[in-house]
Amino acid sequence: MYKLIKQENNARRGEFQTVHGTVQTPAFMNVATAAAIKGGVSAYDLKDIKCQVMLSNTYHLHLRPGDEVVHKMGGIRKFTGWDGPVLTDSGGFQVFSLAKLRNIKEEGVTFASHIDGHKIFMGPEESMRIQSNLGSTIAMAFDECMENPAEYNYAKNSCARTTRWLYRCKAEMDRLNALESTINPNQMLFGINQGSTYRDLRIEHMKQIAELDLDGYAIGGLAVGESTEEMYEIIEAVEPHMPKNKIRYLMGVGTPGNILEAVHRGVDLFDCVMPSRNARHGHAFTNEGCRNLLNAKYTLDDQPIDPECDCPVCRKHSRAYIHHLFKAGEMLAMRLTVLHNLYFYNNLMERIRKALDEGCFEAFYNTYSEKINKRI
Ligand code: GUN
Ligand code: ZN
Repeated sequence: MYKLIKQENNARRGEFQTVHGTVQTPAFMNVATAAAIKGGVSAYDLKDIKCQVMLSNTYHLHLRPGDEVVHKMGGIRKFTGWDGPVLTDSGGFQVFSLAKLRNIKEEGVTFASHIDGHKIFMGPEESMRIQSNLGSTIAMAFDECMENPAEYNYAKNSCARTTRWLYRCKAEMDRLNALESTINPNQMLFGINQGSTYRDLRIEHMKQIAELDLDGYAIGGLAVGESTEEMYEIIEAVEPHMPKNKIRYLMGVGTPGNILEAVHRGVDLFDCVMPSRNARHGHAFTNEGCRNLLNAKYTLDDQPIDPECDCPVCRKHSRAYIHHLFKAGEMLAMRLTVLHNLYFYNNLMERIRKALDEGCFEAFYNTYSEKINKRI
């Protein structure tokens, strides 16, 4: 259940109650695609870096180790040791971005596994059954995430099918939640807005999915080839049609600057691989901008990654040490930089929430946006 606590223009400060704990929003979800945060970060590390929600993927866990295995092991929370809320993505995005040779029909999608090429079928019911087996707190509806640009007629038909799939997801989830063997009988369902870059399709689709009384609403199909300006325009077009009393999630976005802009436009929830992926390549987010730790200028730099950061890594280690770890190919380099970057994102959300609590989000937004997008 979502509770709106405070609002400043469109920006919202809220609380999202789940059976696995309450999430303070705006919030960032930490991505553990295959039940692990890449870079060697464990469930107990997440507690130290202000993580509130972990996110995993239906597609990956279905292929390996298999959702039946996770079910037998007591669900994703027991399996990973993360006892807070978990959101699972439906496979809708991964099937379209990772899998090869896919064939889309009304029933669902047939595709070849990106691991060994074997044929798999996934439709709304399969996705719900997998997510039910995983026992996540929140399941995402099975959707089609189109590439941008998409042809108008294709996008129109695809949205209509995604809506029909949503009804099937809802029916299957209701059935599964009532079963004896279900790990989380209170599993929530979020719908996903699509419509490519077409305002009219986006709005029509949002209105359709808002008719179902779902636990939350996501904006999907963004950060997939369109410009940043187009992305903001779509959020602005869709937002007035999103239920005010439900949590709003922008999928797969983005830079700290993108997140700030989306909060400003009324979004509550985010996820992105950027903090962990960039960290693995030596790129650290800081309050002054993005820092490349592989740069030779850090060889003798005794400052922490970000002097303003009080994450466990910045409290202990210097840029010179982490620079050395990267040069030496030590896996600790990635682990430490991932921990810092995730903390940076989670802490940014905390700062946004504090600014909202104190009624000074607009001031925070104005002074902060420019600074964090810089490369240093
Ligand atoms: N992750 C990022 N974008 C999307 C999307 O459009 N759909 C789904 N299911 N996941 C996503
Ligand atoms: Zn830090």
